[in-house]
Parts: sequence; structure tokens; C-alpha cells
Amino acid sequence: MAEYIAQDILEEIRSRTDIVAVISEYIPLKKSGANYKALCPFHNEKTPSFMISPAKQIYHCFGCGEGGNVFNFVMKYEHLDFSEAAGKIAEKAGVNIPRQFGADKKMQSLFNQLYKINEAAADFFSGHLNESLDASHSRDYLKERGFTQKTLLDFKLGYAPNNWTALYDYLRHKDFSVEMIEKAGLISPKGGGGYCDRFRNRVMFPIFNLYDKVIGFGARALEEKQIPKYLNSSDTPVFNKGKNLYGLNLAKREIISKDRAIIVEGYTDCIRCHENGFKEAVAPLGTALTEWQIRALKRYTKNVILIFDADQAGETASLRGLDLLISEGIIPKIAVMPAGFDPDKYLLEKGAEEYEKIVKNAPDFFDYKVNLLRLKYKAQDPEGKAGIAAELLPTLARVDNAVLKSAYVRKLADVLEVAGTDILSELKKIKNVNYSYDKNEIKKISQDSRVDMAEKILFVLMLEDNNLIKEVRNALRPVDFESDGMRKIVELIFDFAEKGKEICPSRLIDAMGGNEAARLISSISVDTPEITDAAKNLNDCIRTIKRRNIDKKIKELKAAQRKAQGEKISERTFKLTVEFAQLVNERKKFARSVK
Ligand code: GTP
Ligand code: MN
Repeated sequence: MAEYIAQDILEEIRSRTDIVAVISEYIPLKKSGANYKALCPFHNEKTPSFMISPAKQIYHCFGCGEGGNVFNFVMKYEHLDFSEAAGKIAEKAGVNIPRQFGADKKMQSLFNQLYKINEAAADFFSGHLNESLDASHSRDYLKERGFTQKTLLDFKLGYAPNNWTALYDYLRHKDFSVEMIEKAGLISPKGGGGYCDRFRNRVMFPIFNLYDKVIGFGARALEEKQIPKYLNSSDTPVFNKGKNLYGLNLAKREIISKDRAIIVEGYTDCIRCHENGFKEAVAPLGTALTEWQIRALKRYTKNVILIFDADQAGETASLRGLDLLISEGIIPKIAVMPAGFDPDKYLLEKGAEEYEKIVKNAPDFFDYKVNLLRLKYKAQDPEGKAGIAAELLPTLARVDNAVLKSAYVRKLADVLEVAGTDILSELKKIKNVNYSYDKNEIKKISQDSRVDMAEKILFVLMLEDNNLIKEVRNALRPVDFESDGMRKIVELIFDFAEKGKEICPSRLIDAMGGNEAARLISSISVDTPEITDAAKNLNDCIRTIKRRNIDKKIKELKAAQRKAQGEKISERTFKLTVEFAQLVNERKKFARSVK
């Protein structure tokens, strides 16, 4: 979980920062009219298509579509998260970021208390593992598994004693409140009153966030009869199983320098990888990969190798994780462990060199999935071909890169011995639906980000003169805009205006959050012709959009009418006819006033 930076501090950083000055510290810039140009640092190019607008305080690359404000640039260039980037920029701008501030103070203080409790618990557990007499069986267990002393320290492994209230008593003794200990997910209320420890007689794996703070635990049973084998902390304000990756705090530097990440399934697999020099390894926390985790990883590399245990390979959850990666622009490679092995066992028995071969030779997702499907279907039979295509195409549809996509289409055509055009036409039928992972995440820009020129001009006008927002809002609703992406942007602009907040592209980018939003906003901000007569343009654009939507509706109605006539539902046909006439009337109004 990122640290909070209060809104007014962000404003202060923004107001004291010039995007041109910041970016020029990273790459050479050339003045070009009112703007600056450079070779894009985010893709390979020979002629500059990377543009910086000092007026709008944004950058945009016409080659690769990357774009955003100064925060996005530093995040992307330095592989930092938002608060890290903001901290860095604040330093350059001479702005002090108080760790506790205003409305976020309460939240920050809750977080800090939870970090402290978790850390105290981790100390307690590791102290026990190292010193306590009753921990000898857990020491033996870890020694038997071959973990070195250094590993135990690096990952701060511990032992939760076989006692109902050992941790509770310890934390109370340290003056943490019962309420906070419960909030940290370390104790549960007992039936007859009082509390008991959540973790008993288990090997403890503290889970760290990116800033090396303990946020929760994974706990492994020591005896066969203990269930579950692994018990996690419950979700708390600082801990969420789907939003953190085990080992990422220790792995991030290595992931950047090796430019690859290895994702394994278990805590022990991850630890064993690190022990053997694969410090770029991380593991999800006992659940399937989530979009959050992928986004956290994507900041460091686009090269991801998934290593599945033999028994997990091909399971729905694994395949879903794979599709999510592709949707996020990562083309993963997949290695499957030989039967009976997981990375932990493989490294112990075969060593790092053999393991590196597996990692290096991992086939990409396409070959992996085709191989799986070949086991399920007979690729020689027509039905088998159709089955393989039907299961593979939704995955291919997620590949954003057109060149790559067409290469896969050709490959699939070869595999199935059918014409490439047939594959292509099937592929076109697939509407690219994203797995929704968080219904509350309304700000997420969907894949649909079409914007026509009238919308672009309106956007620029509203941002150039915030007073014009009111006029747009009187005439149009967010749903009148063409795409989901644009609708969300307009919604936010209206919302800002209602709250009387000033709006500029850069601030909008922060408020929307996410790289997709940054790209979309920067692209429409820079890709617009000079507008001279604001009032006339405003009116024209509003009319154009309205007319377009009426036309669209007329078209839909015509289709519905045709269908209704065919079905001989007279009342419905009548209703449609009336509605149609109304629309045509309204359409005329616009035709008259727009040349
Ligand atoms: P070892 O048996 O200690 O080597 O662990 P492992 O990591 O090889 O375990 P396994 O392959 O069985 O499971 C992989 C990961 O799934 C674990 O690291 C846990 O994160 C998770 N997991 C396994 N069993 C359970 C369980 O019973 N409950 C929960 N919540 N997670 C589990
Ligand atoms: Mn294992």
C-alpha cells in the first residue's frame, strides 16, 4: 500500500515544478515552436515523436502513445510508484512532504499503528524461532528443508508458539490496544469472551509491502493434522491478499536489473529461488494472480515468466492469470515443473543451473496454451480445430500489439492447418471483455477510448477555459460521449467543476489515475488544432455530437422497426414509429442550424 500524500501537498509540488525542467534532466530536449521535442525514451526511434507541452505540463509520444504529466514520466522512467515519484519531484522542487497531514492524518496514523503491531509480531515470532526451547521442532523443520540462516534472517521467518495467547499477551504487554491488535488480524474473539491468537504452532512468513513494512503473515502448519496447510492474515486496512506479492520488496531491484520477473506459486518456492540467486522471484499470496499484482510488477519489467507446479498447470485460475497478464500488455512465458517437483524441490535436487534452463527455455503463452489444448482436443478433426480455436482466440484477442497478434494468427492457422483469414474472421467476432476485478474501480479507463474531433475540441475548450464547462454540462451528459474512456473523463470534469476546483490536463491525469488514462488525456490534449473562436467552436461541437447521437439512435430505431414489423407486433411498431418521427423532427432542427 502506497503512502498517502495529501492533496494540497501534491498541488504545491505541481505548482513548483516545470515538466520541461524535470524531463530535461533525463533526456536531451529540443525547442520546437511552443513545445519541446525529443527522442522517445520509452520506445526505439530515430526521429523524435516525443513531445512536451510546457503550457499544458504534459508529455506525449505520437509513436508509442505513452503520455501523462510529470509524475507519470518519473514513475515510468525510474520505475517508481506514485508516492515515490512524487517524493523525488518534491525534493527537486524543494517541497517538504509531511508524513502526516490534514484529512489523511487519521488514515496514516492507523496505517502506522498497524505497521508497528505487525512488526512487533514479526519480532516476536522470529525471536521465538531463534531462541525459544519450544521452537526446536520448527528449527529442525526449517533446517531439514535446507534453509540457510541467512535466508531465515532475510525473510525474517519466525515461529508462532503452540499457545492460545502468547502473541496477545506480548502485544498487550507492549501497550498495543486490543482493538488495534484485532484490526491487525492477529487475534480473534473467543466464544466465551476474551481473545485467542490466530496463529499457533506454525512457521511464520511475514509479508512485506514495497517499503519493507510488515503488513501481514503467511503461516505454515508444522503437523499433518493442522489445517489449513497455509493460513494467511485476514484482510486488514494494510493487508490485502490480492494487492501484494510475496518477495517483491526484495525482488524489485533485481527485476529491474535483470529485466525479468519469475512468478512462482508458493512462499517456499520464492524463498528458495532467492537463495539460489533468482532474486527476481515473487509469489502471489495463495490466490490466483490479480490485476493489482500485475500492475505492481509491470512497473519493473515486461518480461514475466510464470512457473507452474505440474498439478496446477492448466487450471482455470492459472489460465485466468495468464489472460490478465496479456491484457496488461505483458506477453508471459510459462514453464511447467516436471511431475512431482515444485521450484523449491527442483532447486534443491537439481540446482540453479538446471533451473535457469527451465526459466530460459520457457515457451511463450501461445505454445503453452496450444500444447494444453492439443491434449484436450483432436487437432486433426474439424470439431477439434474449432474447439482449439474457440479456447485460444479469446486469449489472442487480448494481445494489443497488432504485429504480434497477426503473427499468432498465422501460427494458429499453421497449427490447425486452416486459412489465416478464417482465424482472423473468428478473431474479429470476439469482443474484448476484460475480467472485472474491482467493481468500485470506476475510474479505470476501459479499452474503449474512441474520441472524435468534436469531443477533442470540447475537451480542450473546457480545459482552457473552465467557465465553459457549465455550458457543455447544460447541453450534454457524459453518456453522450462516444467511448467509455471519454465518458469517464467528462464525468470527472463535471464533478471537478461542480466542486469549484480548477482543472488542467495534468491534474485530471492524477485524478483519473492509471497509465491508460494518462495516455488518453495526454493524447487528446496535444492532438488538437489551434482553436480561435471558442464560442463558435463550442456550439458547433455540441451540435455535432448531438446530431451524431440522434443519427445513431435513428439508425438503431430503424433496425428495431424492421425487426418489429417482421414480428408483426403492431403496438410496438406504432410506438417506434412515433418515436422515430420525433427524432427526425429533432434532427431537422440541427440540420437547419448547422452548416
Ligand atoms: P511447502 O509445502 O511448504 O513447500 O509449501 P508450498 O509453497 O510448496 O505449498 P503448495 O505448493 O501446497 O502451495 C502453494 C501456495 O499456495 C502456498 O505458498 C500458499 O501461499 C498457498 N496455499 C497452499 N495451501 C494453502 C491453504 O491451505 N490455504 C491457503 N490460504 N493457501 C494455501
Ligand atoms: Mn513446496
